[in-house]
This record gives sequence, structure tokens and C-alpha cells, in this order.
Amino acid sequence: MSAVDTMSRFEVTPVETFDVTLEVPGDKSMSHRAAMIAGLATGTSTITGFLPSEDCVNTLQAMKACGVRCEVLEELPGFGPVAMRIEGRSMHLTAPSGSIDCGNSGTGMRLLAGLFAGQDFITELFGDESLSSRPMGRIIQPLAAMGCRIEALGEKEGSAPLRISPAEIQPIRYELPMASAQVKSAVLLAGMTAAGTTEVIQPAVTRDHTERMLEAFGVKVVTEGLHVSLAGGQVPQARDFHVPGDISSAAFWIVAAAARPGARLVVKRVGLNPTRTAILDAIERMGATVIRRPVEDVQGEPFGDLEIHGAPLKGTDLLPEEIPNLIDEIPVLAVAAALAEGTTRIRNARELRVKETDRVATTVENLRAMGGQVEEFEDGMEITGGAPLRGAEMKSYGDHRIAMAFAVAGLFADGPSTILGTECVRTSYPGFDHHLAAVCRGAVAESDYQLPTRAPNA
Ligand code: S3P
Repeated sequence: MSAVDTMSRFEVTPVETFDVTLEVPGDKSMSHRAAMIAGLATGTSTITGFLPSEDCVNTLQAMKACGVRCEVLEELPGFGPVAMRIEGRSMHLTAPSGSIDCGNSGTGMRLLAGLFAGQDFITELFGDESLSSRPMGRIIQPLAAMGCRIEALGEKEGSAPLRISPAEIQPIRYELPMASAQVKSAVLLAGMTAAGTTEVIQPAVTRDHTERMLEAFGVKVVTEGLHVSLAGGQVPQARDFHVPGDISSAAFWIVAAAARPGARLVVKRVGLNPTRTAILDAIERMGATVIRRPVEDVQGEPFGDLEIHGAPLKGTDLLPEEIPNLIDEIPVLAVAAALAEGTTRIRNARELRVKETDRVATTVENLRAMGGQVEEFEDGMEITGGAPLRGAEMKSYGDHRIAMAFAVAGLFADGPSTILGTECVRTSYPGFDHHLAAVCRGAVAESDYQLPTRAPNA
């Protein structure tokens, strides 16, 4: 992380009450895919609700570097576009003039690698220190088996930067060794240029945004249980797409409300894709009330409003099949567990160790700094909650979700807390600091939580 990052911090004061109505910024997974698939499509798409975070802006920049034209219609000043028109290139991108920066984003790098596999030019993808240490072998292996010429140029074996050279892509039938939507998506995107049908078999259901986004853009994708397949040679057709709010960002406020008896939270227009809502099931089992108000969805991604009412929480066991569907929410769920009576078991979550940080280690470290009782395992943790949390100074370790999860924990502590190194939050939740400050001063008006978007140059 940069020097600036070590300067930025959240100062969190405990709150007594919580009555909040807000809308969180657009879904990160969908925003990456919208930029990519609209850029590959024939025709012009208008994308609204786009997440103007560093991760998604990097993906948009990557598409622009490869000839995709983008006109910004609305932006969040200081961050990036929230609405734009994207002129697609009918699957034929042009060579970028330099290497492509994927920043901190595993999703950006892994999906772009699949997307570039069948293009007729060389691309190099690089990222920050965290991304350069994350495993890329998991995409290199299936992409190479499809004929892709992909090299890992990083110091560590199988790590970024990645170089992808022109090659003829063959279809594949691939059994995913781990439950990863990123690997599934990389293979499917590479399969778009193959002559024949590419099939991916998942060990468990993972988020299905690539399948839904491709379908929304007119590409036929067949899902039968854990099998997903598509025929190569299909060209996405432009359309308008609205990205709903990110349930992974909402999760911070969901826990903040759920763990406080008498608290109330309304989250408007948030994504309710069933491969992402296991957080709601877990928090309900822990004793909170969750009211789902789905809106009829016309673009293939369910969304709606959520209302949460807090209660004294009790511990729960996360089910193995739930893990992929709440993987990004585990740091904040661990905070909920520390506030709940009894034990919460989070196992079968080895994948947490290869996220932006080793999230088993960083979550355990910060919980302990607050006096939480937690046992660490290779594949997760067990948390015995109920004792009050202490205000503490904690690090984000450069990981956005660790920074936000422990800002939420600070709301429940016996004194003030500081989270150091919070610049990383820009990768997924622009405006989190604005929302946190409003929560800390007890703001209840919806307007206090609105982020100031405007037309560019206005
Ligand atoms: C994502 C998939 C998940 C998730 C990540 C976003 C995606 O990663 O943790 O934040 O958009 O496909 P894995 O595919 O590595 O599980």
C-alpha cells in the first residue's frame, strides 16, 4: 500500500442507537462484468449504478485501453463514473499501448485473463503487491489447457504479472478444483472465442453473475445444477443495464443493525441474487429479523429493499455450502459472532486465506486486539462471543473488508477505536467513510447517507 494509505484512518466512536436508511454503491462483481461484457458486445449499452471504485474503474480502463469507447454520463466526484454509455467492439478488441493495471482486484485480473485469451494481440496484466502475491495458477491451468498462451511473470511461482499471447482457444470441460466464481468466469469468457462448447463443473454453487450478465446480453448459457456451459462464437448484444447495490457492502450495516437490539436498517435497491444472500440466512439464524422486499427483476439480477431489526444474537454454525455464498462477508460475520452469545463455527473456508489478505489471520488478529475470544484453524475460525469488545487501534492490513468490518466492531466497543490504513476502502466502497461518519453521529435522515453524484464537468 502507498504512503498515503498509512496516513488514512477511521476514528470510530461507539453508538447507542442505530436507525438508518441508505442505498449502498453498485455491486462490484456485476460492475466488472458489465464493463467487460458491454465492451465485447455489438452496439451501445448504457450502464447505470456502476460502482466507481478503484477495482471497477481499473477494469473499465482496461477495456478502454483495448479500443472500447466510453462516455461518462454521471460520476461520483473524486472516485469515478456511475453511469456511462459503452460502445462495444463485437468481440474484437484492439491492442493496448501498454501493460494493464488491475490494481488490487483478483476479479479484474482473472476475468480479464480469460477475456483476452482469444484476442489476437499480446496483453500484460499487473497489479499491486497484494494481487501479485495471490494465486494465478488456478486460472493459468485451465486457460493453458484451452490452448491459451499465458505466462506468469511474477517472482513467486504462478503469480502476476501475466502475459497473454495470441492463440487459438479450444473448448474445454473443466472440473473446478475449488469453489471459485472467478475461475469459472475466466474459463467461460475464454470459451466465448472457442469453436465448440465449454463446460465448467463447480464443486459447489458459486456466484453466477457472469452467467446472468451474459444471458442479459443475449448469450445462451446453460446451467444444470453445478454444470455451466456455453457455445463459443456467440456475440453479446448491447443493452441497458442497471447495477443494483452491493450486498457485500450492505453487509457492514446489516451486522451493525442486527447485533443491536432495537436497531433498524433499511437498505434500498440492493442485489438479492441467491448466490450472494447467505449472509441474510446466517444473520437470521443468529436471531435478527430480516424482511426481504424483492422487486420484480427485468434484467436477470434479482434486487429489492431489505429491512433488518436487531436482537440479542446467538452463535451459529456456517454450513459448508453457504461458505462460497458469503465468503466476502466472513470478516464482518466474525464481528457479529464476537457480539453473539455462544460459539460460531466458520470452517471449510480455506479460500479466505488467499483473498486481498489472509482473512483468517487478519480477522483473528483484530478480533483478539478487541479482546474477542477466537480460535484459529487452517480452514477458518471458531468464535465464542458475548463478552464486551474493547476499543482498540487496529490495522486494515491494506484489506478493504478488514478495515470496514472492524470499523463496525468499533461501533460496539467500550471506547473509541482507530482503524489504520483505510485508503484501501476505495477499492470497493467509495463513500463508506461518509456513511460511517453519519452512523457515528446518529443521523437518521436518508439524505444524510446520499452520495453526491453529478454530471461530469458540472
Ligand atoms: C468474485 C468472486 C469471489 C469473491 C470476490 C468476487 C467475483 O472470489 O471473493 O470478491 O466477482 O467473481 P473467488 O472466485 O476467488 O471465490
